[in-house]
Amino acid sequence: MTTATTTTGTRAVNGSVGTAHTRVEGRDKVTGTARYAGEIPFAELAHGWLALSTVARGRIRSVETETVLAMPGVLTVLHHENAPRVDTDYVGLLGAPDPTAAVFQHDRVPHVGWPVALVVAETSEQAREAAEALVVHYEQEPHDVAFSVDRPDAYELDAFGPAVMAKGELDAGLAASAVVVDAEYTTPEEHHNPMEPHAATALWDGGRLEVVDSNQGTTWVASELANLFSLDPASVHVRSEHVGGGFGSKGLRAHQVAAVMAATVLQRPVRVIMTRRQMFSLAGYRSPTTQRVRLGADADGRLRALDHSSLSLTSTVHEFVEASAGPARVMYDADAHHTANRVVRLDVPTPTFMRAPGEAPGSFALESAVDELAEKCGIDPIELRVRNEPERGPVSGLPFSSRNLLACFREGARRFGWADRDPRPGLRRDGRWLLGTGTAAASFGAMAMPSTAAVTAEADGTFTVRVNAADIGTGARTALTLVAADALRTTPDHVRVHIGDSDLGPAMIAGGSAGTRSWSWAVMIAAEELRERLALNTGIPPEGITVRSDTTAAIGALSQKERHSFGAQFAEVAVDPATGEVRVRRMLGIFAAGRIVNPLTARSQLVGGMTWGISMALHEEAVRDRATGGHYGADLAGYHVAAHADIPHIEADWVDDVDPDDPVGIKGIGEVGIVGAAAAVANAVWHATGVRHRDLPIRPDRVL
Ligand code: MOS
Repeated sequence: MTTATTTTGTRAVNGSVGTAHTRVEGRDKVTGTARYAGEIPFAELAHGWLALSTVARGRIRSVETETVLAMPGVLTVLHHENAPRVDTDYVGLLGAPDPTAAVFQHDRVPHVGWPVALVVAETSEQAREAAEALVVHYEQEPHDVAFSVDRPDAYELDAFGPAVMAKGELDAGLAASAVVVDAEYTTPEEHHNPMEPHAATALWDGGRLEVVDSNQGTTWVASELANLFSLDPASVHVRSEHVGGGFGSKGLRAHQVAAVMAATVLQRPVRVIMTRRQMFSLAGYRSPTTQRVRLGADADGRLRALDHSSLSLTSTVHEFVEASAGPARVMYDADAHHTANRVVRLDVPTPTFMRAPGEAPGSFALESAVDELAEKCGIDPIELRVRNEPERGPVSGLPFSSRNLLACFREGARRFGWADRDPRPGLRRDGRWLLGTGTAAASFGAMAMPSTAAVTAEADGTFTVRVNAADIGTGARTALTLVAADALRTTPDHVRVHIGDSDLGPAMIAGGSAGTRSWSWAVMIAAEELRERLALNTGIPPEGITVRSDTTAAIGALSQKERHSFGAQFAEVAVDPATGEVRVRRMLGIFAAGRIVNPLTARSQLVGGMTWGISMALHEEAVRDRATGGHYGADLAGYHVAAHADIPHIEADWVDDVDPDDPVGIKGIGEVGIVGAAAAVANAVWHATGVRHRDLPIRPDRVL
């Protein structure tokens, strides 16, 4: 193995990329100097509190504002009859806007937790007390939140590709197969739960709208706000300097729009933050899924037929599909290959992107089914994957930019001690515990999106990089410092990087595992041109020398390939058959995820994804009450997230892998860590007990 597999830092390429580096803002974060959106002070700040609907469907008959307007400190109550109007008839950076964010525009209530009013007061306590006292009268209608596989109203919906992709004769392929697996898998509604709740402050400053926010991309949020409020994009300024997690939930949401409305009406700064409980209705979530996987193979395990069909839900106001059938289009080939994503519309909030959208639940079903096929064929599950490794994209026919999945399995098997494994289930004991091991494959798309950057050579010999990146806790700011240092042939301490400010110019969001790759590309182009200019120059003027870049053309010229990060997940579990408790004892993930810019933060990100995979396998489940249409326990007491005690020894590492067309060789690491992790745990539970668990989470009552 080379430089990329060590944290301690053999120097790679030009020096900084590939070498472990602590976060450049780490000291600010641990000393409290780094301030988050909800804690930045403003003079004359007023506080808004959202009031959410308590009914699941109907109309608002009236909002009793008089009583709360008389309460201490209350300044105004915004609702559908008096709030500023917004324009929702536009196509934004991610398509048509989710009407959930366009608050207070009509009297319809499409789900429990729909924003019906914003109470603004001098203090947040006054605003909260008044919002909780606000009486709203509804005309209630019957609602439907029942998600199930036999919904006749389900329909196919495109997302990241067509809803249905098919080749060959599926029924004939299955009929001709010596071994067939046909199983249904379910995953529950899951929530992002970033540590830092959503928070935004809006104010008008000399004709400009200023928004201080916690989001995954100020380019995106600024553009959505300009569209909604029909403003010149240049007059909207959004800042988001430090972000305590997003995972897909931190785009345009009700709180920013409500804050802008209140700041406009009151002509003073207004802050709106979400409570943890409100986030369960307002921040998006991962839809539950029901998936059917059918695999047909010859006796030697080679696939003849593959069918993966997924059903997820969306709201009545906006379409979103959890495209769980997607991973099969990348992972395994078969003569007959069929994948389909369907949705059903219910009276629930709109789901959204959540870490590895599609791949996380999809890989649970697919990689569990592959394990079941290995069992039925009597073939080791890694060997089965070796026999089914495709040469090209199974559906697209395109070449892979790089794959290296088998290298991940080889390295993982060696380090995990897979060779000694007895494949028979239910045989190993450690006192009262049954022990088992499992594995699964991972993949996630490697995208790059157009971005701009500016790099300045300062007169004092240092460099300033301006790129509108978002560091949502990933270490993006630090990665960009290392990339810039190498491109400029200098050391990281000579580079300062400014991010999180829409005035820096358009850039990709922190999403799709494509942030660091997209921003690095723009920084590389500007830095390299700057170096050429400096070579011709004798001196640097006081204002410095600045070079700007835009990657639109470079990314547009990328060749058509299957570009993905890959990985191999391994888990060892212990199951107590008396209590049904499952404990993960150790986990190993080996990834082929392109050039690793900063091994220190990359390892954290991959371990974070794997930790979430354990949490998904064993704990996380939002339960919706069919009678009220709302959640039981919409908080971190009722919704279980893996705690420290649930997480054993986890190791993440990687094999040599470089994207051949990326200037740094990056693919992306944000999401692949969670993919396959839950399947590895579930497959290990089968190996321990001999019982397949096809419904997540694997709760004690399901194990018993
Ligand atoms: Mo991610 S789900 O693209 O923030």
